[in-house]
Amino acid sequence: MVSVAVTGKGGTGKTILSALLVKFASKTGKRVLAVDADPDSNLPEALGVEPEKTLGEVRELFQMSRDDMVSHDKEVWLEGKLMEVIYEADSYDLLVMGRPEGAGCYCYTNNLLKSILRKFMSHYDAIIIDTEAGLEHFSRQTIKDVDYLLVVTDASMKGFRTAERIRDLVKELNLDFRGIFLVANKINDMAKKVIEDYANEHKFDLIAILPFDEKLAELDLRGVPVVKLNGESELVNRVEEISGMIFG
Ligand SMILES: Nc1ncnc2c1ncn2[C@@H]1O[C@H](COP(=O)(O)OP(=O)(O)OP(=O)(O)O)[C@@H](O)[C@H]1O
Ligand SMILES: [Mg+2]
Repeated sequence: MVSVAVTGKGGTGKTILSALLVKFASKTGKRVLAVDADPDSNLPEALGVEPEKTLGEVRELFQMSRDDMVSHDKEVWLEGKLMEVIYEADSYDLLVMGRPEGAGCYCYTNNLLKSILRKFMSHYDAIIIDTEAGLEHFSRQTIKDVDYLLVVTDASMKGFRTAERIRDLVKELNLDFRGIFLVANKINDMAKKVIEDYANEHKFDLIAILPFDEKLAELDLRGVPVVKLNGESELVNRVEEISGMIFG
């Protein structure tokens, strides 16, 4: 199993990259799980699907009723509910995490959920996690077990700074990824050289430069799922290459 989390500054293209990775990873016949870990969920729209339930809702339900269950039942109940939350598309499954926990002590619930999720995820070949912008999920350690980190930046100093902060935090928290890769997105010719120089200077492993794509912008404006972009697009071809590099 290979897992990848897509991170970076807000609006840089994490969700469209995640959706296209799901598309290409599942094209190769792999068992793919897409995870929407952004509370402001929009991976389903990008994929063109409408799951009804989130893991957050299950967590709340469990939190309310767990005291009435005996130990063994708790695990069985949660496993059953998790299956109800999984959205099964034709060539991949989707799990929407939903809102983070409310006030109160969720340690027990979260630990149980974590162990159930770990077991569940081990059944997939490829896991793609779309995360919320910024650094919050690192401090909550929700993505500490993934293999690869893709850090998406656009052509802006703010995007670079967030990428640096993510890398610093990973180091500080001693998180152990197999690779941390920078992906530059919405890049025009002028910005290309700047990005390459920046990556060199800051020793970032820049694995892809994705162009600004007019067609994608148009699809987005009309609310058409990004996965409908076809192979004539350079952006799509580049993402297929990333998928090949990571998932084989
Ligand atoms: N290569 C591209 N060419 C044109 N438009 C793009 C490109 N990449 C992303 N966009 C547009 O930029 C916007 C942000 O993309 P997206 O939602 O994927 O970013 P995000 O990083 O997931 O944002 P958030 O931090 O809000 O979750 C969208 O409107 C999307 O269509
Ligand atoms: Mg997003």
